[in-house]
Amino acid sequence: MTAPDSTTLLKWYDKNSRSLPWRTSPQERGCGINPNPYHVWLSEIMLQQTTVAAVRGYFEKFITLWPKLENLAEAEEEDLLKAWAGLGYYSRARNLHKCARELIRFHNGRFPEEEKRLLKLPGIGPYTAAAISTIAFNRHAAVVDGNVERVITRIFALTAELPKSRHQIKKYMHELTPHERPGDFAQAMMDLGATICKPRAPNCLLCPWRTKCDGYKSGIAESLPRKTPKPIKPTRHGMAFVVRRDDGSVLLRKRADKGLLAGMSEPPSTTWAETAAMDDLSLVPFKLRSTNLKWQRAKHDVKHTFTHFHLKMSVWITFLNEEPILPDGYWWSSIKMQQDEALPTVMKKALKASLNE
Ligand code: ADE
Repeated sequence: MTAPDSTTLLKWYDKNSRSLPWRTSPQERGCGINPNPYHVWLSEIMLQQTTVAAVRGYFEKFITLWPKLENLAEAEEEDLLKAWAGLGYYSRARNLHKCARELIRFHNGRFPEEEKRLLKLPGIGPYTAAAISTIAFNRHAAVVDGNVERVITRIFALTAELPKSRHQIKKYMHELTPHERPGDFAQAMMDLGATICKPRAPNCLLCPWRTKCDGYKSGIAESLPRKTPKPIKPTRHGMAFVVRRDDGSVLLRKRADKGLLAGMSEPPSTTWAETAAMDDLSLVPFKLRSTNLKWQRAKHDVKHTFTHFHLKMSVWITFLNEEPILPDGYWWSSIKMQQDEALPTVMKKALKASLNE
């Protein structure tokens, strides 16, 4: 086989690159416009475990609210969590804030260019360090995300299973990455993976590397990469308690600063466990127990999947139109406020279920 070459792929990228709000197009780069490291970093953090389609709107919202790194560093963490709500993996938002503050305090508000120094910053792991170094600063680095993994396994017809083959894939990417335009090359690999070398039904006839692809030639491209089966996720159970007022307000509180969904908002709820009950009203949170509330179970339970488990949560509703003294850390959230609360998706589902529609 003739080896796949970066020049062919870069030519394809010059014509076919996706237009993304955080990206400097190859044409702009050709005119000497450099990528904005703040935009590259923000987008790469958002894109971890999340699709481009889901990230677009959040990215635009963030740079409208905080146009520069220093604005983000000065923001309140609570406002960041509110803007991040719905994107998932909330520790990313907290680390984003820490990282911005550290850059302003110790790095003069500038991102380091080398992978090794980037790796020392909060929330920046090997993938993100390589991506920022190469996309923002055009340094030679092997960027391997899910799209790149798929392209490389197919081109070289690697039949070893992921994640074991990750090290080998990184080596191939390192060798393929050119010293000229390494940043565009990384993004070209991502775009090829996202638009042509797709997980199912890859569009091999349109692929600029078709004649160099061992997976295509041997007819196994679509079956790659092979993956070690993931362990089956357990199901945990819990209960959410939604106190409503007739005007649509609901009673919310802030979750603990540690653990899953740390610092986010929620209707009061129980901890989640595999063996937990979904209909035990003795589990109503302590601070809500002193009031004389009548609870009714919502028609629909909530189902949600996290990285390591499924969650099934019953939703309990009560109406309270008086103005009781609220327990510490609780507040009434009006219909309008609810749109801007730091509510994770699972809690938005609980509020929706509490409408009993
Ligand atoms: N996925 C992660 N980073 C990306 C980028 N810079 N361009 C396209 N897709 C991506």
